[in-house]
Amino acid sequence: MSPPFTFSPNFLRKDVAGARGSVAKSARVKTRLVVAIDVPTFVRAKHLIETLAGIDVTFKVGYEALYGYGPDLLGLLESRGAAYMLDVKLHDIPRTVHAAVHALVRPGVALLTVHALGGAEMLAAAAEAAAERAAELGIPAPGVLAITILTSLAAKDLRELGLGGGAGENASRLAALARDARCAGIVCSVAEVAAVKSACGDAFIALCPGIRPGGSAHGDQRRIATPGDARAAGADYIVVGRPIVEDADPAAAARAILAELN
Ligand code: C5P
Repeated sequence: MSPPFTFSPNFLRKDVAGARGSVAKSARVKTRLVVAIDVPTFVRAKHLIETLAGIDVTFKVGYEALYGYGPDLLGLLESRGAAYMLDVKLHDIPRTVHAAVHALVRPGVALLTVHALGGAEMLAAAAEAAAERAAELGIPAPGVLAITILTSLAAKDLRELGLGGGAGENASRLAALARDARCAGIVCSVAEVAAVKSACGDAFIALCPGIRPGGSAHGDQRRIATPGDARAAGADYIVVGRPIVEDADPAAAARAILAELN
């Protein structure tokens, strides 16, 4: 049974030292490729992982994989000693999120996502649980990343949701909230990376979905950028799903993106 969660306000960090630096440094940042395992069956997921073996990518396990065949997939990744991202996008009351993170942390989980719109206390609960559970297991704590504004949302969608200001303004405000709650970084579009890094420091992770190599379909993504744009902006990670997973040759697609990145 997980321990009862009592939220300690001291856990909120208001005095983050973090390098509040310029993004000029971003030219030196190595942008890593995260591949979203967004396929409907474990057989397809296993095949994708095997196809990409030996290529420098990190896998992302999201809703489709986790709800469809999560235990099999996590077992496979763990048996391969892979570090991966759990894109669970938690959004609930702090106690529930704390308990969920406690249950999710296990060897191999390097990054884990929550929604910044869950609020400061929920973000702090997630970060606290990740650190506590990792310490109990004697493993490195996963970085908790806060999703700011989904890259599928355009200005019109934000207005409908009652979020004043543009995506950039909202992302920067939510990034500061996540930083103060001791999250390791945020998920945002490439267009927001520079503002977030200059407000929160270069060490604060920026992971960007909505990546479309030239010529690939946008799908439901709205605020998109190329891998080269992401690297130039100083993104630490890019997440790519369909342009790799739906390509006839996923390994070649991944290699082409890595070539553009580094
Ligand atoms: O296929 P595509 O490249 O659009 O996949 C993007 C992946 O990144 C999906 O798994 C999606 O759930 C995830 N993601 C996103 N936007 C966020 C957070 C995660 O697109 N803000």
